[in-house]
Amino acid sequence: MLQHQKDLFNIPEDITYLNTAAQSPSFKAVYDAGIKGLKQKKLPHTIGISDYFEPVIELKTLFAKLVDVDDFNRIATIPSVSYGMATIANNIKLKEHDEILIISEQFPSNVYSWQKLAKKYNAKIITVSAPESKKDRTKQWNTNILEAISEKTAVIAMGHIHWSNGSLFNLKAISKKAKRYQALLIIDGSQSIGALPFSVKEIQPDALICAGYKWLFGPYGCAYAYYGSHFDDGEPIEENWSNRLNSEDFTGLTNYEAQYKPLANRYSVGENGSFIYVKMQIEALKQIIDWTPKAIQDYCKNITSKAVKDLEQLGCNIENTEFRTHHLFGIELPNGINIEALKKDLSKHNIFVSFRGNYIRISCHLFNTAEDFRTLINCMTSALEK
Ligand SMILES: Cc1ncc(COP(=O)(O)O)c(C=O)c1O
Repeated sequence: MLQHQKDLFNIPEDITYLNTAAQSPSFKAVYDAGIKGLKQKKLPHTIGISDYFEPVIELKTLFAKLVDVDDFNRIATIPSVSYGMATIANNIKLKEHDEILIISEQFPSNVYSWQKLAKKYNAKIITVSAPESKKDRTKQWNTNILEAISEKTAVIAMGHIHWSNGSLFNLKAISKKAKRYQALLIIDGSQSIGALPFSVKEIQPDALICAGYKWLFGPYGCAYAYYGSHFDDGEPIEENWSNRLNSEDFTGLTNYEAQYKPLANRYSVGENGSFIYVKMQIEALKQIIDWTPKAIQDYCKNITSKAVKDLEQLGCNIENTEFRTHHLFGIELPNGINIEALKKDLSKHNIFVSFRGNYIRISCHLFNTAEDFRTLINCMTSALEK
């Protein structure tokens, strides 16, 4: 079992940060790598041609390893989830009345591209809503998703978990049914990859897009994409010189090259060789691979299990462990709680969580400990008394 890794971070002792789902802290090695990149920028004569290419290959190889992909050429580095989704939508042709299946209250970067695509082809968005009942809610949700997949489904675009409450979707069963109807399965792994095991070989999505600044500890402005064979000969949304064959030969750049580098390379964003970002991302992914997502998930389970019981005793509603994650979960607050008083109290005690209506989203990592939840629960108790 992993021990806490507080020493690798710089979070002040009086801060309880339970909001990695919004923005992760850089651990020291990532921060130092960024400084190294900044120093290189200060002295540009130290930047060599290989600095634009070799670290990117190392980074793609690391991400490929993390998500169980054999060929790094299937990975593209991109600036955001919306960029990845735009690339995907740009390479899908639909028939009139085809259906694009999404989940209710999905993150907007995984919705707008689908709305645009549906409009273009006069296709239909089908949104599978969360069931009303609290009992077995996510179990029923998964059943409803499976039932919504039919011969009309052309695309399924969803997360591995719901970003706002950690509800865990049964991607294995969803993928199986998607394949039966030849629907494309597009996964947004932003709130799961890095903290929850995921294997492309096992789930076989057609694409996986993933923000890099949350559970992958990269800088804001970095993200990753895996593209399967459907996208092998597609159109990128921009034409950057570095994605063409032989771009390493700086003297021949104006011998304009018609061929892209293999597979997903064409979909990488321009200036993907950012020697500041890439250095930070490499350090981050190395460390995550070393910790392993499974050990991170187990650690989060360990530090949250007592808190979850205590919160339930206070009247909070939290999904069963079988159907949610431990690094990120939603707490439905009890009726009658004074939410404004709770917000103030948490802020007074430097406790950082995400609020959404009657829900709190908790997200934790290896710099958190079971202690972090004690003050949270005290604040909750006093808000119930107010
Ligand atoms: C599920 C999910 N996808 C994507 C994003 C970020 O999207 P983008 O990189 O387009 O800003 C977030 C941010 O909170 C998220 O929670």
